[in-house]
Amino acid sequence: MSKKAFVKSYGCQMNVYDSERMADALAGSGYAKSSDAEDADVIVLNTCHIREKATEKIYSELGRYKSLKAANPDLRIVVAGCVAQAEGEEIVRRQPMVDVVVGPQAYHRLPNLIARSTEDGRQVDTDFPAESKFDKLPRGPVAKRTSPTAFLTVQEGCDKFCTFCVVPYTRGAESSRPVAGVRDEAERLVARGVCEITLLGQNVNAYHGVGPDGGEWPLARLMAELAKIDGLKRIRYTTSHPNDMTDDLIEAHGTCAKLMPYLHLPVQSGSDKILKRMNRRYSASEYLRTVERIRAARPDILLSSDFIVGFPEESDSDFEATMDIVREVGFSQAYSFRYSARPGTPASERPQIDSDVSAERLQRLQELLKSQQRLAQDAMVGRNLSVLFERSGRRSGQLAGKSEYLHAVHAECGTDMMGKICRVRIARSEPNSLTGELVRVQGT
Ligand code: SAH
Ligand code: SF4
Ligand code: F3S
Repeated sequence: MSKKAFVKSYGCQMNVYDSERMADALAGSGYAKSSDAEDADVIVLNTCHIREKATEKIYSELGRYKSLKAANPDLRIVVAGCVAQAEGEEIVRRQPMVDVVVGPQAYHRLPNLIARSTEDGRQVDTDFPAESKFDKLPRGPVAKRTSPTAFLTVQEGCDKFCTFCVVPYTRGAESSRPVAGVRDEAERLVARGVCEITLLGQNVNAYHGVGPDGGEWPLARLMAELAKIDGLKRIRYTTSHPNDMTDDLIEAHGTCAKLMPYLHLPVQSGSDKILKRMNRRYSASEYLRTVERIRAARPDILLSSDFIVGFPEESDSDFEATMDIVREVGFSQAYSFRYSARPGTPASERPQIDSDVSAERLQRLQELLKSQQRLAQDAMVGRNLSVLFERSGRRSGQLAGKSEYLHAVHAECGTDMMGKICRVRIARSEPNSLTGELVRVQGT
């Protein structure tokens, strides 16, 4: 009987991508993928450190595995990801049953670390090795994909050092994968049934990978190259920093037909004072100007964003400025968080905001964002959208997928439409999804 590995992912989409790569690497060492921790021989938690709650969640999850480890001392427990990078040895001190701690840049060493932990005891590897994990990990998926959509990491790390954020410390310096490796992986994904690829990076639009001509290629040029792949129908990218929305990238939104009309562009705050203290390096009006340029290139584009409320020294009027920028832009989606002080970051040393005050601000902001989200969704009723079906729908006989604007759409249709892009006429808007009727099949 073959051994089994259970990999659980927390945090951002880059962790989802990394989890798949780790599962592929473990498959190469004889571990079949398992969706059940109870009967696994290896449990990998791919962790997130972005807010305090995310980190604490890992320790309570580990607590739940105590009885599994007691019943089976051969079980290997691995902590990977950003908590592993940030806390290293501390994890083993708090949870002695952890066998391996491995940081995000050392995943190619995972099978080896697991093997060594059986002979030599606990292993902690939080290096930023000179070799790239992308060159050492299996080159893309080996089996046919069950989903027609996939993530592809093209850029990692961050040099921007926003004063609230742990990412520059957990993921290290910004680096881009060479164009050839990305194209090769995209071709493999398409050959295995994928038709939509989301290019990932903590600052994906800062991409500057080496091209086949030896020069540095920006993201727009990389996307133009990937758009040449037959069978690749849709391209998305996330997450972008407003300051890296260069002219060529904005122009691509108007000229690259495969680039979907949806963009996640985190603003964090609408107050210039707070933006400065966050070290975001743009003002509210500069952000608005960027949005204007993007909308000029692609008038129907929908925007989403991230917000932090209760940042140190945020006054009532700073918060009102955030409400104002939300009203001015109009977002179709948004993620908003209460500021969480992270160890080692400059903002954590500033005077903190009362938690009741930030809780109340968050609630007000979320109500506004929710109403905008609803408006953007309701505006789709009566329109024909293009939907890529990727899973079974809520009811039998239905499939569900995503529109070009990233709305979830349900429609009655046969399972043979799975993985295909269809025209759907939208009939209804419900709280978190749209429902419509199939108009015609657009392509395979
Ligand atoms: N690179 C992206 C963000 C990555 S982190 C960017 O620059 O926009 C994802 C989101 O988590 C951030 O946009 C921010 O809104 C939120 N976040 C990061 N650190 C946080 C903290 N200390 N407290 C609360 N939210 C935080
Ligand atoms: Fe964090 Fe700022 Fe870098 Fe985004 S740009 S990952 S928020 S430091
Ligand atoms: Fe979390 Fe690390 Fe992603 S801190 S958001 S998993 S980069």
